[in-house]
Amino acid sequence: MSIRFDVDPKNYTLQGRVLIGSTITEVSLVIRDGVVAKACMGYTCKEGKVARIEGSRVVLPGAIDMHVHLRGLKLSYKEDEETGTLAAAAGGITFVVDMPNTSPRINNMRALSEKLASLRQKAYVDYGVYIGYTRNLMELDGMLREKRVLGLKLYPEDLQLIDEKVTSILRNHKKVLVVHCEHPQYISENCQQGERSRCRPVLSEVKCVNEFLDVFKSVKTHITHVTSSRLLLKAKAHGFTVDTCPHYVLLDRSYERRLGCIAKVNPPLRSPNVRDKLLKHLASGMVDAWATDHAPHSITEKQQSFQDCPPGFPGLEVSLRLLFTLVNRGLLSLWDAVMLTNYNPRRILGLSRYGCFKPGCIASFTVVDLKREGVIDSSKFFSKAKYTPFEGFKYRGEPIATIVRGFFVYADGYAPMKPRLTGDGID
Ligand code: DOR
Ligand code: ZN
Repeated sequence: MSIRFDVDPKNYTLQGRVLIGSTITEVSLVIRDGVVAKACMGYTCKEGKVARIEGSRVVLPGAIDMHVHLRGLKLSYKEDEETGTLAAAAGGITFVVDMPNTSPRINNMRALSEKLASLRQKAYVDYGVYIGYTRNLMELDGMLREKRVLGLKLYPEDLQLIDEKVTSILRNHKKVLVVHCEHPQYISENCQQGERSRCRPVLSEVKCVNEFLDVFKSVKTHITHVTSSRLLLKAKAHGFTVDTCPHYVLLDRSYERRLGCIAKVNPPLRSPNVRDKLLKHLASGMVDAWATDHAPHSITEKQQSFQDCPPGFPGLEVSLRLLFTLVNRGLLSLWDAVMLTNYNPRRILGLSRYGCFKPGCIASFTVVDLKREGVIDSSKFFSKAKYTPFEGFKYRGEPIATIVRGFFVYADGYAPMKPRLTGDGID
């Protein structure tokens, strides 16, 4: 059953089963210029040609990935804005937020303009960016004025530099502080393969919240890639939002021992016990968002010794396949998956109309076939980084089409169409 349609992406009717609340209902969505113009129950209304999503497939609000390194600029040998967003499209992800630790770092207006220009030209999915820390408050303020800048990202080495001047600018712009929370004084790099969790322990995550609590409390704070229930519960108790990644709930440090650089990541993979507890918290709805921390490096870099290879691996093309597998295993409902990938990220990032089904919503959707099974195969990745610690994992539940502002940017294994991402407006 093909899912490639001969429709005018600017004006057609999308029909199919959609998830509204916790029920699946047949709906027709008239799409005009990337926006839902009209929504009817059943297959009753129509404008232009019809694209009908049939069978066991379900149309979900477009998945948003809050933590992605598209690289680009001087790091384009690892990944660029085109291959990274193609990987997102192939993974069912309609919106990515790009991290600032590229080269040049995105912590000044000039680098930001360059980054945004490159995204505008190359992106297959919607995007926002986080900026990196700078002491220059004028630059900080200027960058935060940009609509596509959704927040400020802090790395462990930046934590001590933040003061009230920075947080007040962030507050003025109502943008989010995204924190990589490992306390720099509690981490080292002297551990052997399989042991990195001892050098960058859970304790460093907890100490990070303890020490910088006042800063975090003074703004809207989101703690990214939490690896442990200790950090999760602490962050939630203080009213922060959190995300976790597939590798922290599905892998453990034995993968680091076995796969070396391919499974090296910061923060590192934990013990099976820590992983299992985090998975339980994910199942009980404590986690706000499902992010990849898609962090591609070239295979040559990953072939260096364990001490020398850079941390991180790609995740965009495995993330939703693994999440839907958890749904099929009964650990999460499909509604939980939508909370993790759309509703909560939308709320945290301030993208109120993104991927919903009402008139006025941006027509970005993820189409899933919950029955389709497969095996993770990195040789098929659109990402330049063709490796993954999930190689050979069986999954059940596949994102089979990705619709960005009405455009089918991915369908049936192909990336047939580049969307028109007009202007710099995010909504
Ligand atoms: O594993 C990681 N890789 N953790 C980070 O914090 C950075 C990232 C990267 O940029 O490669
Ligand atoms: Zn990251």
